[in-house]
Amino acid sequence: MYLRSINLCRHYKRGTYIVKALDDVSAEAHRGEFLSIVGSSGSGKTTLLNLLAGLDTPTSGVVEFNGASLTGMSRRERSAYRAHKVGMVFQSFNLISHYTALQNVETALLFNDTSPKQRKMLAASMLEQLGLADRLTHRPADLSGGEQQRVALARAIVKKPEILFADEPTGNLDFENTSQIISLLKSLNSDGLTIVLVTHNLEMANTHSHRIIKMRWGKISEEDDMHSHEGTKQ
Ligand SMILES: Nc1ncnc2c1ncn2[C@@H]1O[C@H](COP(=O)(O)OP(=O)(O)O)[C@@H](O)[C@H]1O
Ligand SMILES: [Mg+2]
Repeated sequence: MYLRSINLCRHYKRGTYIVKALDDVSAEAHRGEFLSIVGSSGSGKTTLLNLLAGLDTPTSGVVEFNGASLTGMSRRERSAYRAHKVGMVFQSFNLISHYTALQNVETALLFNDTSPKQRKMLAASMLEQLGLADRLTHRPADLSGGEQQRVALARAIVKKPEILFADEPTGNLDFENTSQIISLLKSLNSDGLTIVLVTHNLEMANTHSHRIIKMRWGKISEEDDMHSHEGTKQ
């Protein structure tokens, strides 16, 4: 199994009661697939994604990547997983506002053994690939939302991760920029990148993913394999 969660729980204490943000979730992502996690606001999508990406630690349960438990890893090993295996994009882009597009992308390579010169070259070439060749020295405030998300995407993939986690990456974008980001994700996926996309847009998930996990109240409510669907439609 590539990436999976086993009986994953994430509980928050709020005053005297406990919020079960994630409640006994066992799920998996296969290598090379385009998986969507769909659910309404507050259903636990971000909580699940952050646990799978090693950004957060569960209350109980396990996340396994290539058979190794993230929770069993040392802090150092878990940082290595985040730095090398995982790329992330967020709804709000999360770019550093006083850095240029190029500098933002370069930050992703600080954990690798790349020289400053190499970093600059790799970052520039990634931005060029995403159609931002003439935006290298722009700061986020001088870029459109779609451009900012492409910079964030460049930052996420410049280190050549195995998995891309995208948390509502098109939530702040208009129709045109949404289509552009989604087709970039699809083309990255065709090149072998595993994609886990969180969205509340079921139609988008239906159209573009191989498989959908639906969440409700911190639990998986349904799983949908798009291919088996096609098989039963005819
Ligand atoms: N740091 C936190 N402290 C307390 N409650 C939280 C925290 N993060 C998330 N929650 C709660 O957990 C539930 C799931 O949140 P989240 O995973 O962000 O949902 P989604 O991404 O599907 O909108 C919500 O009820 C939310 O309020
Ligand atoms: Mg969320």
